[in-house]
Amino acid sequence: MKILVVGGGAREHTIVWKLSQSPKVSKIYTAPGNAGTARLAQNLEINANDIQTLLKTAIEKKIDLTVVGPEAPLAEGIVDEFQANGLQIFGPTKAAAQIEASKVFAKELMQKYNIPCAGSATFSSYTEAKKYLEKQATPIVIKADGLAAGKGVFVAETMEQAHQALSSIMQDRAFGSAGDRVLIEEKLNGREMSVFSFADANTSMPSMPACDYKPVFDGNRGPNTGGMGSYSPPQFLTPELFKTINDTIMQPTVRAMQNEGVPYQGVLYGGLMITGEGPRVMEFNARFGDPETQVVLPRLKTDLLDIMLAVVNNNLNQIDIEWSDNACVGAVMASGGYPGGYKKGLPISGFDGLDDDILVFHAGTKLDSAGRVVTSGGRVLTVVATADTIAHTREKVYNNISRIQFEGCHYRRDIALLNK
Ligand code: AMP
Ligand code: GLY
Repeated sequence: MKILVVGGGAREHTIVWKLSQSPKVSKIYTAPGNAGTARLAQNLEINANDIQTLLKTAIEKKIDLTVVGPEAPLAEGIVDEFQANGLQIFGPTKAAAQIEASKVFAKELMQKYNIPCAGSATFSSYTEAKKYLEKQATPIVIKADGLAAGKGVFVAETMEQAHQALSSIMQDRAFGSAGDRVLIEEKLNGREMSVFSFADANTSMPSMPACDYKPVFDGNRGPNTGGMGSYSPPQFLTPELFKTINDTIMQPTVRAMQNEGVPYQGVLYGGLMITGEGPRVMEFNARFGDPETQVVLPRLKTDLLDIMLAVVNNNLNQIDIEWSDNACVGAVMASGGYPGGYKKGLPISGFDGLDDDILVFHAGTKLDSAGRVVTSGGRVLTVVATADTIAHTREKVYNNISRIQFEGCHYRRDIALLNK
């Protein structure tokens, strides 16, 4: 089968890597891909948001299955466009992707179906929101309704910060129409966990959990990034917690979507806080996480193509999904200065000196005119290992990561070490 993977980060490189292991896959294209995907697939110079060009290309190249990595094309309706043209595509429709693209939609769904989540109130008027906020206590969380590239959530410690956040979203319109509505939400305390479930219209499979590390520096200090590393399974996951997450959150959510007439097909990503009272949803995403995918898919034993086809054809209940018991750890190497400004085009060396079982998933990389791998983004590579324990896996990652070099590169040294 011919596959098209939409996106160009380490998440997409991991998806390409996993799909390339399927005996049924004959050719993979990526749009736009990176220097890592170029080894396993053919990169196409098409932006992941250019739905019409992607559609035209999929028809021309007779693509059998398209797999969408990032949220923006899903929220814009890439799945609806492909389906309307008779093409198979893995991901939720525009209506179902609202579970990520509208936090108000997700919250109303959870409230209606008693899915445990943070208590909150929704406003479309700045004056009303301000009046309500004045009666609340801090800390408090202020969220823009729509997609804001991960920047639309403010955990305010003081009332002044909360008012600033509200005014930036609703008055300054920092996120445009994504800030037409806001949620004012209780702050949850506990440990964060991301869970991923393959879901078709009728079923959600037991979820695969992981933890990611957003702050740039060790000890969770410094500004937030797209993610500096991740590991799976979380050290604090018990069988009881796993069952509660699936029975009270993931399964009921997939059933609720079906019941509402917006069946969900794809990967459902639950962003959870594990509180003293049990797991609570902070948000849902309509796709795989990055950098969690880099540590989740290496643990998948089942053919990923078989699972994706089962999702598309709504027969997921006929498939057994098997996961390895091994631990998996991934640390991100970033450009000097990231998440602020950084240089691009710097040569990367050391790939040849790595142990055989180390995986390197590329994000901001490209091939220069001489065919060398150079940097082209903030997050550059995720270096991944699997082993029997988290401690062994960490050792493997950090023994190898220092052999890869580019000017100014930095990475966290405490991924999977903090009891997060
Ligand atoms: P979200 O995009 O809604 O997951 O929010 C991004 C981040 O903000 C989460 O990963 C949490 O660290 C934090 N966050 C969001 N909602 C809450 C909440 N209700 N309580 C505490 N932290 C939150
Ligand atoms: N790991 C956070 C995200 O993918 O949204």
